[in-house]
Amino acid sequence: MIRKLSIDELEPGMEVVRLSSEIWEHLPFLYTRPGVLQTEEQIESIRKGGYMHAFIHVRDPGESMDRKLDRLVSERGQSAPAKERVPFEREMAAAQVTYDNAMHHARRIIHDVKLGRKVDYEASVQTVDAIVDSAIRNPDTLLCLSKLSNYDEYTYAHCINVAAISVVFGEYLGLSREELVRLGLAGMMHDLGKTAVPSRIINKRARLTDSEFAEIKRHPEYGCDIITRQNTFEEDILEAVRDHHEKCNGSGYPDRRTRKDISPFARIISLADVYDALTSDRSYKDAILPNKALAIMYGMREQDFDPNEVQMFIKCLGIFPSGSLVKLNTGFYGVVYESNPALPLMPKIKIILDEDLHPIPAEMVDLAAAQAMGNRDLEILECADPAAYRLSLKPYLTRKG
Ligand SMILES: [Fe+2]
Repeated sequence: MIRKLSIDELEPGMEVVRLSSEIWEHLPFLYTRPGVLQTEEQIESIRKGGYMHAFIHVRDPGESMDRKLDRLVSERGQSAPAKERVPFEREMAAAQVTYDNAMHHARRIIHDVKLGRKVDYEASVQTVDAIVDSAIRNPDTLLCLSKLSNYDEYTYAHCINVAAISVVFGEYLGLSREELVRLGLAGMMHDLGKTAVPSRIINKRARLTDSEFAEIKRHPEYGCDIITRQNTFEEDILEAVRDHHEKCNGSGYPDRRTRKDISPFARIISLADVYDALTSDRSYKDAILPNKALAIMYGMREQDFDPNEVQMFIKCLGIFPSGSLVKLNTGFYGVVYESNPALPLMPKIKIILDEDLHPIPAEMVDLAAAQAMGNRDLEILECADPAAYRLSLKPYLTRKG
């Protein structure tokens, strides 16, 4: 962007533009020698030369991420563009490889940081790149896989799940590919600071003392320090790690920032973080069903989350998020394998169990397509808890047929 500035506005580092037309050369008060202004003395000599203006290249600051997120959330509130997706069944095998590689990488970076080694930045970017590719091809596969992880590996799976869910949400909103990679990196690194908290506190089953809780609450700062020391991660990644436990009403930590001061990436990561934590099995708590977790999160609007952002998050994941077990009005059970943001009550499901919970040959049903064909006999009654039936859904989602 080119702007005409008065000589009093000039600063060292600004670049005087090369003007293509000679007519400018004849304006007596316009300074036209192209090049970067080096010193205050140089500017002073220009002023003493009687010049009053100069055309300067002003770097276009572009749209800030804060504004962009506001705009995208508002646009998605109006409509979400239909995107071409690779079919779930075709993407699932590739997504599984991506997820397994990412888990391997998460173990590695946590191990490295505990030993005081540097995080392998290149490998981290490659890992997140693959997550972004998969999310673009079919976001539901990653969401399903994030719900199938084993709680024994929660520490590692949580890094990957938060990265994947953040990227899926960012992709839904319309962030650029580069932004998705930075968001995914921030998601993957968000809890790295927990490696600096003594493991006796992290792993304590009993109620934490006030001082232990205070120590846990320092992990965003520890994480930000660790990432800063790498000298490779961009500013918005540091900010996201630092702010991921801040809440919109200022009751979060470490700095009690309010909505306007919380980094936009952190606001996305916070949604993914809470969703994954609520829906994950831990040694001390059972997972909450995905639809209930989203209802709880909706109740946290204004306090924890920006109300528009949490609404869009729910819209992105659907009322029956991918990976949910659902009970149908026929008594049979199915797994949601593709949500339907436009018609959230009518996702695509794979019917896998009869009313007695006996496995049946899988039948794929697109509820929206069935309704459009006039078949209104089949509908979802409710979400069911696979743990209550001692069911593992993974084999049903990762095998064909
Ligand atoms: Fe955290």
